[in-house]
Amino acid sequence: MADMGPRYVPTKLLGSGVHGQVWQCTDEKSGSRAPVAVKVFDTRVPKQLRGLERELVASVELRSRPGAVNRHLVAPHACVFTGSAHVGLVQRLAPGQSLDRLLLLKGRPKRLGVRESMAVFAHMVEALDFCHNRGMAHLDMKAENVVVVAAAHGAWEACLCDFGLSTATAPPLRMGLVGSFGYIPPEVLAHGVLPNFAAMPYAPTAVDVWAAGALLHKMLLGCLPYGADEIMRTALYSHLDRRAAISLMWDAVASAESWRKHVDPLPSCMQGAASLLDCMLQKDPRNRPPIADVLASIVVTTTCGLADDVSDDGADMEQLRDALFRGG
Ligand SMILES: Nc1ncnc2c1ncn2[C@@H]1O[C@H](COP(=O)(O)OP(=O)(O)OP(=O)(O)O)[C@@H](O)[C@H]1O
Ligand SMILES: [Mg+2]
Repeated sequence: MADMGPRYVPTKLLGSGVHGQVWQCTDEKSGSRAPVAVKVFDTRVPKQLRGLERELVASVELRSRPGAVNRHLVAPHACVFTGSAHVGLVQRLAPGQSLDRLLLLKGRPKRLGVRESMAVFAHMVEALDFCHNRGMAHLDMKAENVVVVAAAHGAWEACLCDFGLSTATAPPLRMGLVGSFGYIPPEVLAHGVLPNFAAMPYAPTAVDVWAAGALLHKMLLGCLPYGADEIMRTALYSHLDRRAAISLMWDAVASAESWRKHVDPLPSCMQGAASLLDCMLQKDPRNRPPIADVLASIVVTTTCGLADDVSDDGADMEQLRDALFRGG
């Protein structure tokens, strides 16, 4: 278990991945010993160091304007050093569990109802709109990075986490294969398949729009678009490497006219969302709407709004970013 010093006491491992471990901790300095989440990075691991840098940049940029951080995302607001090679980023604890785990629970359907799907989707679109307005794209929208909780009166609350792949929306635009399998749009898949695409930048905001569409598809139907789950299973059983799996995914997207080909006939739960997915899962990124237009086109539930989240530790975060990554 990570030693985080006297202030943050770990109580539960919330998750771990390539970018570090996330612990639920009690903040012993806060009056109510409030629970927080602390993401711990090992700075000796290049991927984790890169993830740390991106989380720090996102945290600073998302707090760059006065006011609160959106309640539908969690970005670090403080840091703690946990031994010579480890840095912990402290975040608000998002209540609930990861959407991915929820969808895998035994004894329940592997998808959400239309009402729940649209509530979670609206919150995620709001979170992305907030990020894009502040010049940041998330680039890793997926069920694993969404924490959901059934709130009062049957409403659902959703929170986007993990800015470990995030990037600025301004030029120079992002290049290279990035993102999570099944959520990656064709212009990014191309970077892993077509050699002449390697130096072709893509617009990160359009990547988020596609991924949010893929998430909605998964919530409503229980699977990712373009048969990604089947491809993933094939790749697993045939011991294919990531590059080969990406190539299969590229073929599936390139050979189908649209996502609808894999959802024929269209179930009744898709009637309302189908036109939304038609726009968001456009193969040509230039034809996808900006996330602000998606937000305007959905009914935002009354639970959306701004949280009175902590934002007064921004200066510390900026110092840490400078010290770690600019030789300051
Ligand atoms: N602030 C938070 N509140 C509650 N749960 C959280 C929070 N941050 C992260 N989690 C949980 O911990 C898990 C891992 O966090 P995160 O995605 O940030 O780590 P990661 O190492 O980047 O993961 P990966 O590399 O697998 O994407 C998430 O899937 C989520 O379930
Ligand atoms: Mg993650």
